[in-house]
Amino acid sequence: MKKKITKAVIPAAGFGTRLLPATKAQPKEMLVVVDKPVIQYVVEEAVASGITDILIIISEGKEVLREHFKQDLELEHVLEQKGKSEELNAIKSLNHLANIHLEYQHEQKGLGDAISYAEKFVNGEPFAVLLGDTIIESEKSLTLQLSEVFEQYQNPVIALQEVPLSIAHRYGVFVGEKIAERLFKGKELVEKPAKDNIPSNLVFAGRYVLTPEIFDAIRKTKLGVNNEIQLTDAIRILMNEQSVYGLAFDGERHDVGNKLDLIKTNLLLGLKRKDIGEELKNWLKTI
Ligand code: UTP
Repeated sequence: MKKKITKAVIPAAGFGTRLLPATKAQPKEMLVVVDKPVIQYVVEEAVASGITDILIIISEGKEVLREHFKQDLELEHVLEQKGKSEELNAIKSLNHLANIHLEYQHEQKGLGDAISYAEKFVNGEPFAVLLGDTIIESEKSLTLQLSEVFEQYQNPVIALQEVPLSIAHRYGVFVGEKIAERLFKGKELVEKPAKDNIPSNLVFAGRYVLTPEIFDAIRKTKLGVNNEIQLTDAIRILMNEQSVYGLAFDGERHDVGNKLDLIKTNLLLGLKRKDIGEELKNWLKTI
């Protein structure tokens, strides 16, 4: 029987050092983009693809990432009394988005290591992975686009983005053979290749659908780039036994883990908002 994706893992245990001091006592995944924390965009994307259970991988002190989705009866009562119905609806909509669970990554040993903490939660099922510091803007939820490819092929699928070759060394890079419109079958994966040896301009976009065999692959994965257990290296091991697909998705990726992109994302998404877009555009013209 063909399997469907109902579980998602959001790794969010990193220290966010590129955004210090903002991220000293506050998770970067809680930083605001217009009027929502980044994690809310990520959870909403997962839910829009039919995900019902979400595991957020955190480090100590980041428990607020789950608190954000808990019902707050007192706040609801205050908003009701003040007649603030728009705000009331906005916070009520968070109450039942999905079942949200937490797991601690004890040491920040890389993305592959973070995913290894999801083994019990995943319980032998295929699952989605959404990086907690990346917002995807697309007409159809990117996780849903990946899930649909998974439903057809029943093999891991990685979201890919085309970037200029000159910046591909910053990312995990996918080398593959085109098998359909926007769909590739993987041949080789390289995490942050050397600048003078970049094999492709298709890079990982922070969303994956993986099979439970990834956990054995992670156990076999040695320390890689930056002395971390890289998810890319584990997927490469998985490729020995399963085909891995790449989907060059339709949409925009916003990585909010660095200052410049955090500010750009706020402006880009702010400009698209009905309530402030016009005023923001007019103001930008004046500076
Ligand atoms: P990043 O490498 O962008 O996050 O990982 P970071 O380590 O927090 O950032 P800097 O470089 O120090 O600024 C991408 C995602 O993977 C998670 C991060 O929380 C982020 O959402 N991650 C990374 C983990 O959960 N565990 C890790 O060991 C590393």
